[in-house]
Amino acid sequence: MTRIHIFDTTLRDGEQSPGVALNHTQKIEIAHHLARLGVDVIEAGFPITSEGDFECVSRIAREVRGPVICGLARTARADIERAAQALETAQRSRIHVFTSASAVQIQHMLRKTPDEVLEASVRAVELARQFTDDVEFSGQDVMRADFDFVIRLYRAAIEAGATVINIPDTVGYGTPVEYGRLIARVRDEIVQGRPVEISTHCHDDLGMATANSLAAIENGATQVECTINGIGERAGNTSLEEVVMALHTRKDHYGAETGINTREIYRVSRLVSRLTGMPVPPNKAIVGDNAFAHESGIHQDGVLKHKETYEIMNAELVGREAAVMVMGKHSGRAAFRKALADLGYVSDGGVGDHGLNDEAINALFVRFKELADRKGQIYADDLRALVEAGSEITQT
Ligand code: KIV
Ligand code: ZN
Repeated sequence: MTRIHIFDTTLRDGEQSPGVALNHTQKIEIAHHLARLGVDVIEAGFPITSEGDFECVSRIAREVRGPVICGLARTARADIERAAQALETAQRSRIHVFTSASAVQIQHMLRKTPDEVLEASVRAVELARQFTDDVEFSGQDVMRADFDFVIRLYRAAIEAGATVINIPDTVGYGTPVEYGRLIARVRDEIVQGRPVEISTHCHDDLGMATANSLAAIENGATQVECTINGIGERAGNTSLEEVVMALHTRKDHYGAETGINTREIYRVSRLVSRLTGMPVPPNKAIVGDNAFAHESGIHQDGVLKHKETYEIMNAELVGREAAVMVMGKHSGRAAFRKALADLGYVSDGGVGDHGLNDEAINALFVRFKELADRKGQIYADDLRALVEAGSEITQT
């Protein structure tokens, strides 16, 4: 079984979500939860960007034990020295040096030649290695770059001492097949069995971040960069919970596992949503409100007979309550009966039992459908009201 390392960048790339700004206390709280979740690396921030970011990375480095604590730096000396200073007290630290790999970014943003970018990268990685023996290197926007240049750039970074090479699809442009092929090229042409880890970093502009990250794993990546709830620049980053649960649920396919304590996933998801003010869409995989809810009569009937008819993983496995039956107009008689039984209204046939019998349930089911047609979702209180009204009618 291949061990996949989870590099969480909720506090760095995740915080780059438009409109999100976390204060120190909130970031530290999230960092402690990430450690409890069992992530391997926490990218705590970008220390050169502000005094506040520097302070926060320093505090996380000092306080949070377990994961490697990572700080981001451009190839500039000042960035690397500042990151190293912020990470001084970490149990284990990593400096993440990044540049750009695509022609459009090199020409218009960095205003350098590719050779200058390569030379600056080599100098930066060598400098970072003076502070820590764990140095990650990234060239932004690889999927729109000339792949021959990408290979040359990463080969130079490894020779300069990079221990992790991260391949960012910065603008979410790649498809799983293309991205997977590039990772395989990196593995076969430059890593070639050396103790250098290949890392994936995908953005979700075309909704393919999780698929691309998994394709990378199939082609040799052993580190996945991701965020809680997939938050991040524009459409966000790869969702931690999606990759982790895909690997867990499809172990048979990927032959890989993570060190994540999956039962902590939901709690961290709620925390990040609350602190960032970014709601989780109801249909979001794993952590959305509807991710384990069954509405249609056919599905509810199936799940009541055998969970696996419509469930590929247990809600409890990600720290949620058992799957719920949403009562609405698509619900069938079996789910309606079960909901009434859960509320204590169904007769068990015992002596002196005043619960509802089959005939009464059938009569109520007709009224339930009428109500669901008008109201949409039906909650426990609606069911109670339905039963109470039914008994009043019977009594009068
Ligand atoms: O998306 C990106 O390219 C990044 C880099 C800093 C790794 O976030
Ligand atoms: Zn990114």
